[in-house]
Amino acid sequence: MANNAITLAWTGASGAPYGLRLLERLLAADYHVYLLISSAAKVVLATEHGLKLPGNPDAAKAALCEHLGVNADQLTVCGKEDWFSPVASGSAAPKQMIVCPCSTGSLAAIAHGMSDNLIERAADVVLKERGQLVLVVRETPLSTLHLENMTKLSRMGVTIMPAAPGFYHQPQSIDDLVDFMVARILDHIGVEQTLVPRWGYDQRS
Ligand SMILES: Cc1cc2nc3c(=O)[nH]c(=O)nc-3n(C[C@H](O)[C@H](O)[C@H](O)COP(=O)(O)O)c2cc1C
Repeated sequence: MANNAITLAWTGASGAPYGLRLLERLLAADYHVYLLISSAAKVVLATEHGLKLPGNPDAAKAALCEHLGVNADQLTVCGKEDWFSPVASGSAAPKQMIVCPCSTGSLAAIAHGMSDNLIERAADVVLKERGQLVLVVRETPLSTLHLENMTKLSRMGVTIMPAAPGFYHQPQSIDDLVDFMVARILDHIGVEQTLVPRWGYDQRS
């Protein structure tokens, strides 16, 4: 496994453009990305972005590489029950994982260690190996159940980053709002980014 490998999961919360942009930026930053896509995430991607991904992981990878114009060598798309994937075992899994967007369903499953599909298992592995897990949760309003699940995971060191872009960078477009969230995620996991200037800096760096 490459040193700069990372696991990215797309689940069925609204916010497919965040997931796509984050994938594109991680690949541009020379990461090898293990991409996990839930069935609901595919529905959201088609609804919000018009991109219909095939069910077969290799065909989904080909479609994504063509859509984003990215290098296929850096991307592995894993199936829902691909239990032999590196992300399914602490002996091989990347130490960092981002779920973006993260549905409240996947949040609950991760908070309870369900490990019933590869996304849940991969998150469980990162938790047990004490790696870095970031959940970009989107729902509104939040129920006490959602808040308790987030609190439980936060106490274990998981980063909860609500998909809630700021407006102080004066966004002119939806892309600007998407980039705000993606920039904060990249900052958090230590990836250099120039999408949005840091607080206190006037110029884009
Ligand atoms: C277009 C669309 C938007 C959705 N938006 C959200 C959302 O913002 N947050 C959420 O928690 N679930 C949302 N859902 C519902 C989830 O997709 C659903 O609960 C699903 O079971 C989640 O499964 P997953 O976590 O395996 O992807 C949405 C579903 C669709 C089709």
